[in-house]
Amino acid sequence: MKLGILISGRGSNMLAIAEAVENGTIPNAEIAVVISDKPSAHGLLKAQEKGIETLAIPRNGRTREEHDAEIVSELKKRGVEFVCLAGYMRLLSKDFIRSFPNQIINIHPSLLPAFKGLDAQKQAFDYGVKFTGCTVHFVDEELDHGAIIAQKVVEVKEDDTAETLSHRILEHEHKLYIEAIAKITGNNYEIVGRKVRFF
Ligand code: GRF
Repeated sequence: MKLGILISGRGSNMLAIAEAVENGTIPNAEIAVVISDKPSAHGLLKAQEKGIETLAIPRNGRTREEHDAEIVSELKKRGVEFVCLAGYMRLLSKDFIRSFPNQIINIHPSLLPAFKGLDAQKQAFDYGVKFTGCTVHFVDEELDHGAIIAQKVVEVKEDDTAETLSHRILEHEHKLYIEAIAKITGNNYEIVGRKVRFF
């Protein structure tokens, strides 16, 4: 299965996926391209070091629809069948989502539906929850909303700061995202309403 990965920054989840594809933890998959809307994204360099094709496609004053159309066209050109968002900081247009029906997934650093949006780890920390975590989900037209594929609970410790908590969640993100992608590329699942069932 050909994967396309969209990033905007550091790219640690992208790198974890790339390494899992390389060592066979995610079998039968290849990363066709890594695309960033930010030309300065550090993750682009990390992908290049892995020998993966990269593209920087900045928005450059265009509408969301025009920008997304270029990204979709580059993905389709390379035969991408599945899109993984990994720290991609833009909302996708309806047309983008409809171009890849049930073929776009995202990782979010909280237990959805709690703490949607930006700085989810800090939102959870400030709220004072005792447990938070991370979620891999299908992307639909609402923010951080689509059907849930996998979740991992992470305990908030007494001596945590928002930073130490984020770091611990991130370590779990890397594992969870790989497990989820390996399951999805295995094609043994169905989506019924909001439920993703594996068999
Ligand atoms: C991760 O915390 C991810 O859950 C969120 O953005 C962050 C991206 O980090 N969507 P990285 O670029 O993968 O290192």
